[in-house]
Amino acid sequence: MTTHFYTASSVDGFIATTDHSLDWLLSQDIDEDGPMAYPGFIARVGALAMGASTFEWVMRHEKGRWDYAQPTWVFTHREMSAPEHGDVRFTQDDVRRVHAEMLAAADGKDIWIVGGGDLAGQFADAGLLDEVWLQYAPVTLGAGAPLLPRRLDLELIEVARNRSFLCGRYRVVGAPAP
Ligand SMILES: NC(=O)c1ccc[n+]([C@@H]2O[C@H](COP(=O)([O-])OP(=O)(O)OC[C@H]3O[C@@H](n4cnc5c(N)ncnc54)[C@H](OP(=O)(O)O)[C@@H]3O)[C@@H](O)[C@H]2O)c1
Repeated sequence: MTTHFYTASSVDGFIATTDHSLDWLLSQDIDEDGPMAYPGFIARVGALAMGASTFEWVMRHEKGRWDYAQPTWVFTHREMSAPEHGDVRFTQDDVRRVHAEMLAAADGKDIWIVGGGDLAGQFADAGLLDEVWLQYAPVTLGAGAPLLPRRLDLELIEVARNRSFLCGRYRVVGAPAP
């Protein structure tokens, strides 16, 4: 069971604009059956974690509908409303305890840290992030939500082009020695 941070990024390392727009991403060309595309990835995922902004984006974008079949942990300090359907669990617990719950719920499948970047970093800080999958869209944003605001060493284990996207899969080696 592998814990992945799978995300798209601008070439300059942002996963959303400063006002949490993904228009720059959703307008890009991708082959859903092509290399490192989402359908093949999500089929192997048994549990998800995301931060409050990402959850709010999904709820806005899907107009309140929740399409994930997997149990999802949403990290927040606020009172938030769960979607009518789906298994959404709000938490502000330690990432280690949440990760253990996710492993138990995932039933042998992988874990997806959806984002944002700092939440993925919190799992990396605890030594719980195994892989980072990046789809680089051919844009720069100049500013926005950071991809992974940590100092980490990564090993490149797969590279592909999917239409507009440069895709890389990395193993997390860990924080460099001080
Ligand atoms: N390009 C892509 O493929 C992609 C993928 C994923 C996300 N995104 C986008 O990227 C943006 C990410 O936004 P973001 O950088 O603000 O990150 P985020 O992780 O989505 O949200 C950050 C918020 O999550 C809560 N949070 C994080 N860690 C927590 C913890 N340990 N305990 C309790 N609450 C915690 C806090 O919310 P509160 O304290 O306010 O409750 C924090 O302000 C969103 O717009 C999202 O839609 C893009």
